[in-house]
Amino acid sequence: MNTTDTSTQDPLLRVEDLVVQYPTDAGTVHAVSGVTFDVHRGETLGIVGESGSGKSTLLRALLRLTPHTGGSVRYRDTVLTDLGEEPMRRLRPSLQMIMQDPIASLNPRRKVRDIVAEGLRIWPDRVTTSVEEQVAAGLDAVGMDIGIVGDRRPGSFSGGQCQRIAIARALALRPDVLFCDEPVSALDVSVQARVLNLVHDAKEALGLTVLFVSHDLGVVKSVSDRVMVMYLGRICEIAPVEEIYESPAHPYTNLLLSSAPGSHRPAPPDLTGETPSPLDPPSGCRFRTRCPLAQERCAAQAPPLRALPGGRGVACHFPLVTEDRDEAEAGATS
Ligand SMILES: Nc1ncnc2c1ncn2[C@@H]1O[C@H](COP(=O)(O)OP(=O)(O)OP(=O)(O)O)[C@@H](O)[C@H]1O
Ligand code: SF4
Ligand SMILES: [Mg+2]
Repeated sequence: MNTTDTSTQDPLLRVEDLVVQYPTDAGTVHAVSGVTFDVHRGETLGIVGESGSGKSTLLRALLRLTPHTGGSVRYRDTVLTDLGEEPMRRLRPSLQMIMQDPIASLNPRRKVRDIVAEGLRIWPDRVTTSVEEQVAAGLDAVGMDIGIVGDRRPGSFSGGQCQRIAIARALALRPDVLFCDEPVSALDVSVQARVLNLVHDAKEALGLTVLFVSHDLGVVKSVSDRVMVMYLGRICEIAPVEEIYESPAHPYTNLLLSSAPGSHRPAPPDLTGETPSPLDPPSGCRFRTRCPLAQERCAAQAPPLRALPGGRGVACHFPLVTEDRDEAEAGATS
């Protein structure tokens, strides 16, 4: 059983024991190390964790933009990790990605109308009305008028406007899942809310499912239905957004929330530890070198992701939330 699937429907995405390693001159980088989770249709799953925790690698591996070392990814009835290049290419319009740096993601020499039409020209079977109409609709969805912006080039727009153009390009293809990798991190706070609202409105209008990566806990809280917390390539915790923020079950989630700007939570006693190298991650629980609750067992045994009541999953031998422990144990093993 996948401990995090609370839906009665089949999940839209099922990720099982996914591993991504990068061979480098210095050794093997353990970027993603056996992650298992589901994404339900129509939800926004926020993914948080500090720099280097494997968030971007995970998204890229789900999309087969980075080769995986092990495990599987299923999207609807298709096992993406088994697919050849051509069938994967045909699925790409359904699985669209929004990157962190909007300016770099747009070709500076092309007009906006051609940038937004790019995907429709590559995948003509995504054209249901006409290219021009879908480009106009995509721009309209991000509050831009093709008559005003269509013939301009990216250089004449701000970062926030470029991100809106990048979102229009994705939406013009009528995707099923939007993979957002820090889509507002490079933007001024004043324009972040506008872009987040656009993603939310597009999700509602088109019935999108969204995976939303950010290191900003406030941003993730505002957009997510569930949140997944990563540390050094592993999942610490996955839970509905209100549960994560009100009562984190994993000591690392607690540390993240306590050290967030404006937090009223008391800081845990030991916040000083450095994040270990992904070239040689700690044995057992990878968070043990910084965890104020670590015990011998934490070095000997990696904690599995197990179910807690309320659709939560936590990977900790001594979680902070232990209500209905018996029920939790039963749920984790069923
Ligand atoms: N192409 C690569 N070759 C070698 N190591 C890589 C490569 N890409 C990422 N890494 C390493 O893999 C680990 C995970 O990186 P990743 O970019 O996925 O983290 P992240 O959570 O997205 O971080 P950030 O918040 O900084 O974007 C890091 O240690 C990173 O240095
Ligand atoms: S398993 Fe141990 S070291 Fe890891 S988070 Fe839980 S208490 Fe801390
Ligand atoms: Mg990243």
